Amino acid sequence: MSETVFATPPASPQAGAPDDRVVLAAQDLTRFYTVNRGLLRGQASVKALNGVSFELKAGRTLAVVGESGCGKSTLARVLTLIETPTSGRLFVDATETTTASAGELAPLRTRIQMVFQNPYASLNPRKTVGQALDEPLAINTSLSRAERGEKIAAMMRTVGLRPEHVARYPHMFSGGQRQRVAIARAMILSPAIVVADEPVSALDVSIQAQILNLFMDLQDRYATSYVFVSHNLAVVEHVADDVMVMYLGRAVEHGPKAAVFGKPLHPYTKALMSATPAIKASERRVKIPLIGELPSPLRPPPGCAFAPRCPYAVDRCRQEVPQLREIEGRRVACHRVEEIEG
Ligand SMILES: Nc1ncnc2c1ncn2[C@@H]1O[C@H](COP(=O)(O)OP(=O)(O)O)[C@@H](O)[C@H]1O
Ligand SMILES: [Mg+2]
Repeated sequence: MSETVFATPPASPQAGAPDDRVVLAAQDLTRFYTVNRGLLRGQASVKALNGVSFELKAGRTLAVVGESGCGKSTLARVLTLIETPTSGRLFVDATETTTASAGELAPLRTRIQMVFQNPYASLNPRKTVGQALDEPLAINTSLSRAERGEKIAAMMRTVGLRPEHVARYPHMFSGGQRQRVAIARAMILSPAIVVADEPVSALDVSIQAQILNLFMDLQDRYATSYVFVSHNLAVVEHVADDVMVMYLGRAVEHGPKAAVFGKPLHPYTKALMSATPAIKASERRVKIPLIGELPSPLRPPPGCAFAPRCPYAVDRCRQEVPQLREIEGRRVACHRVEEIEG
């Protein structure tokens, strides 16, 4: 099935202008899972998310990048209030979710929405597109049935779907169109924030750019803030304002895209860039092979978690956890940045 993109009316000039309001803030968020390792070895703690902090402003995109298993989806679930953090603080708008009552949390849940990697799994196969889009409106607004129908048709057009397909079921759409349905469902209550967890990773490469452009168009139009999770640096380069590179539950490099992509400083960021062919050659000056595997978060190595794979690691790296510090316009957690760069 073809991906028809309908023209959308231009938004007013102010509509998409980012302002300086912080709409989402994380302070030292952690999420640990207790897992059973069997009779003799007892229980252990998986530090899936281990002290992550950031601020996201209105209309901006924070991209979270790192290999599979580094904690990206855990962060996404904590940010969307699907899971509560083990410790740390989370603010949506100005409200601290981590201390809010259930009554205070309910309206916040409509302010922050999630788009998942696999729209097959996130859409109910027994509900039509119309039903999927009507549900949040019926529950959360006082709009009449006719008004909801109009809003659904308008949102379908906005995301590049034909309103006359409102009675179709998810399986009747292509993968890209299904992701458009999932995006429409996330956007229909005009959330301040959308957290997208690998939203194009399951799609054909030819469709990925269309969906990324849809995300960008929607952000221009509604000034939505995005946390955009991806293991793919080429995707991140397309959408990000800020980039946070994660390794084993922690941020290792975090700052404006221009700084991080223009001159990556953490050896892990450099290695990720070396491993991404689509990244421009000028940004891959330093070749660091990504050898070995991500260590288990059940038994994280002492010191810097990247040390066992880092060509620059010295004894200090294997003993002392590096803290994020400000270097050249971004924050980096590496003891040796100055020596490596100097
Ligand atoms: N519910 C859970 N119980 C136990 N361990 C988990 C759970 N969810 C995630 N993990 C572990 O936490 C780590 C981070 O996982 P995840 O957040 O899914 O990473 P990513 O999305 O970057 O691939 C992994 O080691 C994973 O096995
Ligand atoms: Mg994931």
